[in-house]
Amino acid sequence: MSNADILKWDTKYRSSEAIVSIEPEQELLEYASILPQSGQALDLACGLGKNALFLAQRGFDVTAIDGSDQGLGKLRDSARAHGLAHQIKTRQADLDQYSLDEAYFDLILVVRYLNRDLFSGIVSALKPGGTLIYKTFNRNILKQRPGFNPAYTIETIELVEAFPSLEIFSDNRGDTQSEYAFMIGKK
Ligand SMILES: C[S@@+](CC[C@H](N)C(=O)[O-])C[C@H]1O[C@@H](n2cnc3c(N)ncnc32)[C@H](O)[C@@H]1O
Repeated sequence: MSNADILKWDTKYRSSEAIVSIEPEQELLEYASILPQSGQALDLACGLGKNALFLAQRGFDVTAIDGSDQGLGKLRDSARAHGLAHQIKTRQADLDQYSLDEAYFDLILVVRYLNRDLFSGIVSALKPGGTLIYKTFNRNILKQRPGFNPAYTIETIELVEAFPSLEIFSDNRGDTQSEYAFMIGKK
C-alpha cells in the first residue's frame, strides 16, 4: 500500500462516524447457520470493522488487520463502546507485504478488498475445516463508478477457481446484476 493510499483511507475514516454500528454484511446473517460458531476469526482489510464487531459479538476472538491507523483507532473505540474490546485485536499492516499466521483461523472474512497475491496465504491461514467468506467488487461496479480501478475487480468464477482446495458452499456466479463477486468455501 503506498503512502498515498494510506493517506486516502486515513482521511476518509477521520471524517467517518466515531462509533460504528454493528451492521454486518447481509451474507454473515444469511449464512450464519453454516459458519463456525466460535474460534479465531480474521477480518482482512477490516476498515472501520463493522464485520469484526459483529463476529466479536457472535463470540469469536477477532483479529482485524488494515493499513489505516485511523480506521483501526475507530474500530478500537467502537469495540470499547460495544463492550467487545477484549475480543478484538487490531493490527496495522501493509497487506502487500504481509504473511498471515498458518493454520490459525476458523473463519476468514475479506470484504471489498482484492489482493490476488494473498490468496494462497489465506488458504494456509485457515485451520483444517476453516471457512473463507470472500465478497468483493466485480466489473458491474464500473457501470456505477466509472473511475473505479478495474484491477480491483474480479468475477465470481475467477474468485471460486482461485481457491481450488476449498469446498465451495455458496457463490453468486449466476447473479449477473450484483456488483459483487461472492463465495463461501471450507478447507
Ligand atoms: C473498501 S475498504 C473495505 C473495508 C471493509 N472491509 C468494509 O468492507 O467495510 C478497503 C480497505 O482496505 C484497506 N487496504 C487497502 N489496501 C491495503 C493494504 N495494502 N494493506 C492494508 N490495508 C489495505 C484500506 O485501508 C481500507 O480500509
